[in-house]
Amino acid sequence: NLNATSAPFYPSPWMNGQGEWSAAYAKAKDFVSQLTLLEKVNLTTGVGWEGEQCVGQAGSIPRLGLRSMCMQDAPVGVRSTDYNSVFSSGQTVAATFDRGLFYARGHAMGAEHKAKGVTVQLGPVAGPLGRAPEGGRNWEGFSPDPYLTGVAIAETIKGTQDAGVIACAKHYIGNEQEHFRQVPEAIGYGYDIDEALSSNIDDVTMHELYLWPFADAVRAGLGSIMCSYNQVNNSYACQNSKLLNNLLKDELGFQGFVMSDWQAQHTGAASAVAGLDMSMPGDTLFNSGISYWGANLTLAVLNGTVPEYRLDDMALRIMSAYFKVGLTLDEPPINFDSWTLDTYGPLHASVGSNVQQVNWHVDVRGDHGALIRNIGARATVLLKNVNNTLPLSRPKFVAVIGEDAGPNLQGPNGCADRGCDDGTLGMAWGSGSANFPYLVTPDSALQAQALADGTRYESILDNYATPQIKALVSQTDATTIVFVNADSGEGFVNVDGNEGDRQNLTLWHSGDELVKNVSKLCSNTIVVIHSTGPTILTGWHDSPNITAILWAGVPGQESGNSITDILYGKVNPAARTPFTWGPTRESYGTDILYTPNNGRDAPQDNFSEGVFIDYRNFDRQNITPIYEFGYGLSYTTFSYSNLTITNAHAGHYTPTTGMTEQASTFGNHSTNLNDYLFPKNLTRIEQYIYPYLSSTDGRAASHDPSYGQPASKFLPDNAISDSPQPKLAASGAPGGNPQLWDVMYTVTATITNTGARNGEEVPQLYISLGGPNDPKHILRGFERLSIDTGKTATFTADLLRRDLSNWDPVKQDWAITSYPKTVYVGSSSRNLPLARTLE
Ligand code: NOJ
Repeated sequence: NLNATSAPFYPSPWMNGQGEWSAAYAKAKDFVSQLTLLEKVNLTTGVGWEGEQCVGQAGSIPRLGLRSMCMQDAPVGVRSTDYNSVFSSGQTVAATFDRGLFYARGHAMGAEHKAKGVTVQLGPVAGPLGRAPEGGRNWEGFSPDPYLTGVAIAETIKGTQDAGVIACAKHYIGNEQEHFRQVPEAIGYGYDIDEALSSNIDDVTMHELYLWPFADAVRAGLGSIMCSYNQVNNSYACQNSKLLNNLLKDELGFQGFVMSDWQAQHTGAASAVAGLDMSMPGDTLFNSGISYWGANLTLAVLNGTVPEYRLDDMALRIMSAYFKVGLTLDEPPINFDSWTLDTYGPLHASVGSNVQQVNWHVDVRGDHGALIRNIGARATVLLKNVNNTLPLSRPKFVAVIGEDAGPNLQGPNGCADRGCDDGTLGMAWGSGSANFPYLVTPDSALQAQALADGTRYESILDNYATPQIKALVSQTDATTIVFVNADSGEGFVNVDGNEGDRQNLTLWHSGDELVKNVSKLCSNTIVVIHSTGPTILTGWHDSPNITAILWAGVPGQESGNSITDILYGKVNPAARTPFTWGPTRESYGTDILYTPNNGRDAPQDNFSEGVFIDYRNFDRQNITPIYEFGYGLSYTTFSYSNLTITNAHAGHYTPTTGMTEQASTFGNHSTNLNDYLFPKNLTRIEQYIYPYLSSTDGRAASHDPSYGQPASKFLPDNAISDSPQPKLAASGAPGGNPQLWDVMYTVTATITNTGARNGEEVPQLYISLGGPNDPKHILRGFERLSIDTGKTATFTADLLRRDLSNWDPVKQDWAITSYPKTVYVGSSSRNLPLARTLE
């Protein structure tokens, strides 16, 4: 509500190199101790929008051999280049419920970024989590379930960083919709607002839902995090000391660095003491030529507004992350350019200067195509399959219907940032896109299969060719496969009236009509949906003529091969839907705020449903979904038996106590402004952001009308304190108090393949925490098991202390309540045959 406020939390925690960070921290300390103040500032501030080859670049330290760090998008492959792979989206891979595939995908994407010269891969995504099914960027993340997202983001980060690049978990936090995330963007759409949206989130919901996966990310060794555009409780995420200082750096013990989303920084000194470590892309607004940091951070440290230890801490955090993932001081150069695919072009695209070779067209794909095909198949959810329609086996006649089966006639990369929905949906739009090296369409892969089988094959790729479609699908023996889709993306592109977020949950290009028309005439209609989230299947899913329904997400470059592998049973499906398919839009209980509701002030988005999003809402409201979270079929069947629970006797929880060390500084600096002037021997590039002062007159150098205000005028008293601080109860190691990860119980169950085919199964563990404000039950374990026909396997899941805890807003710590807790095991959130109360 309008009164939502964010409590201040200062000073900004200085990193201490705890846990697995110690070696990198020692290296970073050594390095940072050699830096001048200007060099430290250079590390923290981007060179400006389109200033160099990557979507963001930090300043370099040539004296010590450190080239400019390259920040590049990210979540499905290296963006804005060539000879890269396009992987399935995060949301799609989430459906595999497969830790090994989460890791393998992260590692392969990391390797491609590394080979292009990227330093920081700007992913993975856990914000949006997926509060509203219409959320434009839900596809970039994993699932509205925080546990599933937590596992997926942690494995992805480990994979990415093991490949030698820094991962960047984003967008921190509450970035659940595109509308009003940024004022300039909103104004461009004709909205009259002066401030960005505020996501108003209470403390319990923050901890138990939105922060949960970020804790997993930090525990996984995360090197960097991106603060989001929106405000949280009416304070901008990139200067919100509650979010950055308190939750992230203190409670979660985050040792890496925080970078701003592009233009999400709104202040200089205030964001520095609130915990921001890197300004991206460095200029205040794109191409303004001025920065909140750069020269202004130099001045702020020189005049004491920002304490020197804070700047040192920024540099330490950046360099610790850098060394932690194995980056060295002689990294090969960046070999691509985000602003042109030409071999030669301007190094500084912002001003078109310094034309030189900027692209080396390095093929970084390796053999990732096979992995992508495998993920695409293993992520395809079989939602319906009656009369053993699937798998197909040498069908006599296959008719493929729908634009979504075919190519975009303008080419797979025909629309900038994939900002259109033409042809099969292999990827959605925005900065989360990448260029396809090729795109195998369902039509081409299915036709190849048909030819190999001697099947008659015809496809109609125009959704509106109604007479032709009707004539084809009514023919005897037709097995009709209808391909439909629903797209969404990032707010800077409007596709067909969808300003990032979807305007509705229906299929695009009259897809629902198409399915209805076909299934009226063909008694064997199979529907394949490519989408960025649920669509409303009400009105056709239960038609007896619709014999199978599959959700294939947005699968990336191997789309057609992946779906063919599933349809023909080369891969037995086992994926589970990572979100709920509700009967109506309203059934979700959450939606996008599409209209500003606070005059010109920040639109207020109250997350009043608390932790009750997705299946937790359906369970609470007693609404029967069409397909529930965690649901998915196989071509074989499984039975569940023999639930056992072993108490690990973990002992009591000890809140962390004591005081931190005092803040330290590394190195000395002169206080003479003459030493900070723009060097005479350097050619100034217009619009480029430098750490140097343009004048020894601070006011003139700052470009800041309020220059010279004492810190006490705009910063809280303790904002610049360097004295030891009390440790938070829930803190203690990256991810939070390490005892939260103590195993308290081990749960096992026996799963038997009772059908006629070898297959895979995803047993899931849910727990009811028992309190009046708790969801009916929540996911707390899963495993993807491969089980041959007639065989059994044991499902094992550890229940950690955090899995059983609630956030206690009074204690400001996790606690296990005395309410009775029940463990459930089964094949979906609504099919839980095994249950037992925890002792
Ligand atoms: C803005 C997006 O929100 C973010 O995800 C992306 O990494 C940056 N732009 C850079 O492209």
